[in-house]
Amino acid sequence: MRKLTYFIACSIDGFIGDPEGDASTMFRFIDEEFLSFIKEEYPETMPTLGRRAFGMDDLPNKRFDTIIQGRGSYDLALKEGITSPYAHLREYVASRTLTESPDPNVEIVADDLVGRVRALKAEDSPLGIYLCGGAQIAGELIDEVDEIVIKTYPLVYGSGMPMFGSGFAATEFALESVRGLNNGMVVRTYSRKR
Ligand SMILES: NC(=O)c1ccc[n+]([C@@H]2O[C@H](COP(=O)([O-])OP(=O)(O)OC[C@H]3O[C@@H](n4cnc5c(N)ncnc54)[C@H](OP(=O)(O)O)[C@@H]3O)[C@@H](O)[C@H]2O)c1
Repeated sequence: MRKLTYFIACSIDGFIGDPEGDASTMFRFIDEEFLSFIKEEYPETMPTLGRRAFGMDDLPNKRFDTIIQGRGSYDLALKEGITSPYAHLREYVASRTLTESPDPNVEIVADDLVGRVRALKAEDSPLGIYLCGGAQIAGELIDEVDEIVIKTYPLVYGSGMPMFGSGFAATEFALESVRGLNNGMVVRTYSRKR
């Protein structure tokens, strides 16, 4: 069974964006050390346009071959006219309103989201599934999440979009690794306690 990994950027106080979900204030921390980290560890989490801009086009996928995101998150790309923001991955977008996929590389999941994710996890592949977010879909898939990689940026938001848009439940995860970056970021990896 391969893993579903929620790989997410957040503020010190745990928000993944402002109250509308906008996370652009985090972009200023993209520096050389951060890019080296991404290139070494998670090159496929960089959107296709970013990969081109940062000379990462040729890097093979290291952890994931599939991405799943909610329509709210996918909309950010669609509004820019980008229909396949992660063209180097198999892309799944959860939506009940996008009746037709805007791109051959993107499959829309309208029904039984959890069942579809379970089927993807059951596939035989050495690489895992990247849960991109946002909050709503992460909340719906919390019970399927095997690993959480949290990139914490040295910013306090005060309020904003939570990491999981779900009801309260204390789910235990074990800390696997911590990596600090000189720009004040901390990357923590947690795995679900079974
Ligand atoms: N900080 C980060 O690393 C990060 C990462 C990703 C996203 N974000 C932020 O998160 C925000 C988006 O989050 P969000 O919570 O508003 O939206 P979201 O979780 O990305 O998407 C929600 C949408 O997914 C669809 N959906 C949800 N559950 C479904 C189900 N069971 N079956 C089928 N479709 C389902 C619905 O689309 P329809 O309405 O079309 O039915 C729903 O409106 C963005 O603003 C983005 O900036 C931040």
